[in-house]
Amino acid sequence: MSNPAPATTTAPARTATKRTVLMCKPTHYTVSYRINPWMHPEEPTDTAKAVAQWQTLVDTYERLGFDIHFIDPIEGLPDMVYAANGGFVLDGVAYGAKFQYPERQPEGPAYMDWFREHGLRVAEPVETNEGEGDFLLVGDVILAGTGFRSDSTSHEEIARVYGREVVTLKLVNPAFYHLDTAIAVLDPEPVDGVANIAYLESAFDEASLAELRRRFPDAIIATEEDAAILGLNSYSDGHNVVIAARATTFAEQLRQRGYNPIGVDLSELLLGGGGVKCCTLDLHPVETA
Ligand code: ARG
Repeated sequence: MSNPAPATTTAPARTATKRTVLMCKPTHYTVSYRINPWMHPEEPTDTAKAVAQWQTLVDTYERLGFDIHFIDPIEGLPDMVYAANGGFVLDGVAYGAKFQYPERQPEGPAYMDWFREHGLRVAEPVETNEGEGDFLLVGDVILAGTGFRSDSTSHEEIARVYGREVVTLKLVNPAFYHLDTAIAVLDPEPVDGVANIAYLESAFDEASLAELRRRFPDAIIATEEDAAILGLNSYSDGHNVVIAARATTFAEQLRQRGYNPIGVDLSELLLGGGGVKCCTLDLHPVETA
């Protein structure tokens, strides 16, 4: 394989692909328990503001031509807005989530019901895993996070479900407790065989970092400042990358590579420890020719 041209001199043309996603309105959103360092139940949250901000994300996806599906929010499940954790969907198969904390456990079956009702075959999880929060498809490979939420035994389970290579990555900073807080997938479809990512180096242990450097020599290295507002928790269609509006360095890094960053403000949902990607489950629909 030849090396791609340095991205700083000539930004390659990027191609948007139509995405199909699942989202959940934050009708019952609040912070009433603490399962990550971002959450402060003693501080007030504004559900109406959360809904309004979430709606701007929906509107943004609509403008980009995405196919958006919605799952009904359930009272008493304030974190259900973070749809990415509801499972992992690929090749028409939904690998269900099995949440680490009891507060979120009922979300697993709720999302599995939705998957079944929408024609997907559900692989019921035995091992603890939090869906696309910790599983990211990059090219043919599934990057899989562990350390805080998903058990590494779920990495073996998901490898069996899809028959794909799964790369275990160990997270070491509790502020970046899900893989999608520390890695952004920039190319949902490979470009000339390459699918690139952006990541935060300090979120990983040495072995995982070595693996990331080897596999993604051309990755964007995010700044601590951008990561600290969950700037990496973004969603790309291959050209447009929807990111936290305050992640300005990340936006510039994306522009240099020929991507089109689009900033949205999800400050209210950040109080629960989530951002753009957390609110977005990629359904990876099966291509029909
Ligand atoms: N409060 C939620 C939790 O701690 C936030 C989940 C964020 N989702 C994500 N995909 N990172 O589980």
